[in-house]
Amino acid sequence: MMIKGLRLQNFRNYQDESIQFTPGTNILVGDNGQGKTNILEGIHYLLTGKSYRVQREQELLRWEQNEFHLYGDFLLSNHKVLLESHYRDKKKMVKINKVPCRRLSDFVGTINVIFFSPDDLIMIKGGPAERRRFLDLHIAQMNPGHVSLLNSYNKVIQQKSALLKSYVEKSLKYTQLQLWNSQIIELGERIIRNRANLINCLQIISDHIYNDLSSKREKIQIMYHALGRKTIDEAISDLPRLLNEKLEQEVERQMILVGPHRDDVHILLNNKPARLYASQGQQRSLVLSLKLAELDLIRQEKGEYPLLLLDDVLSELDCFRRDYLINFIELSRIQTLITMTSGENILDSGTFLRVEQGHIRRN
Ligand SMILES: Nc1ncnc2c1ncn2[C@@H]1O[C@H](COP(=O)(O)OP(=O)(O)OP(=O)(O)O)[C@@H](O)[C@H]1O
Ligand SMILES: [Mg+2]
Repeated sequence: MMIKGLRLQNFRNYQDESIQFTPGTNILVGDNGQGKTNILEGIHYLLTGKSYRVQREQELLRWEQNEFHLYGDFLLSNHKVLLESHYRDKKKMVKINKVPCRRLSDFVGTINVIFFSPDDLIMIKGGPAERRRFLDLHIAQMNPGHVSLLNSYNKVIQQKSALLKSYVEKSLKYTQLQLWNSQIIELGERIIRNRANLINCLQIISDHIYNDLSSKREKIQIMYHALGRKTIDEAISDLPRLLNEKLEQEVERQMILVGPHRDDVHILLNNKPARLYASQGQQRSLVLSLKLAELDLIRQEKGEYPLLLLDDVLSELDCFRRDYLINFIELSRIQTLITMTSGENILDSGTFLRVEQGHIRRN
């Protein structure tokens, strides 16, 4: 997969700017605050319908403007794919090859992308929600049905939560709660299975990568932790019983206590929780292994590597890990877009694109 060109109109600090990319490594160089990350954010938004930095599109609009457009020219198995995204008055519109898409799931995953920035350390350091987000974003790229599954599940959770907080006659409340619980069982099981399958695949690949990165000294383990149960099958068969058992507590506390929206991923380094015991450098290596494992998984499933976007990553890695990553990119010939501040002489080959106050020119 490859991006050939991008046009950003009224997106962040870009008024109307077009860029052409080359296969291989493209290096976006510039001083701080010039718009390097904004380009990666634009590509990510175009491909996933989401920014990784902000929740609301309003913040992506160039100041004082009321609409933005993104156009991307991609190659998928040597076929051209044109993606367009338009935002105005809180409405998004997406087109693939000029044909409007009705739902997010109609275009997410057409062209795959892996984004990696120092903020991704939050996957290790942050809370369960960050780790679930990582899993769900990956699954959605591979299996667009996962987006609708999550949307349906979240609606059920919202409705059940509203019911728990409302003044409804007791027996009626219990009857309605049972109905929402049966939906949680049906949708929840599918969500748990999707996430657990991904973790199983990531575990195998990231284990090899981490082995190389740590010169075989350390061992990584990742496990999907569903409903606090030891195994996935146990979690799924226990879900109906757990929902029943906790029903009264849920009513009392007016909050939902059971479901995969509370699940977590346990990441262990040498059998100890990485969140608590791994050093900053080890945590970085763990994230790097997971990201590279994701890349490989997409290649296995789609037959092609996705785009790789690296934001301020190289300067954060030590020489060994940096060389490992650069080697990996060169050998696998993944098209990679890398941001670098002026003066960082980390890479000497690739296409250099200079970014200055929302303008881009090729060196
Ligand atoms: N909605 C917006 N409208 C206009 N300009 C914006 C908007 N959002 C951010 N900016 C501007 O974009 C610039 C930041 O861009 P970006 O984050 O891409 O910088 P960068 O080149 O990656 O910098 P760094 O090297 O510090 O990471 C800032 O100057 C900021 O003021
Ligand atoms: Mg930046």
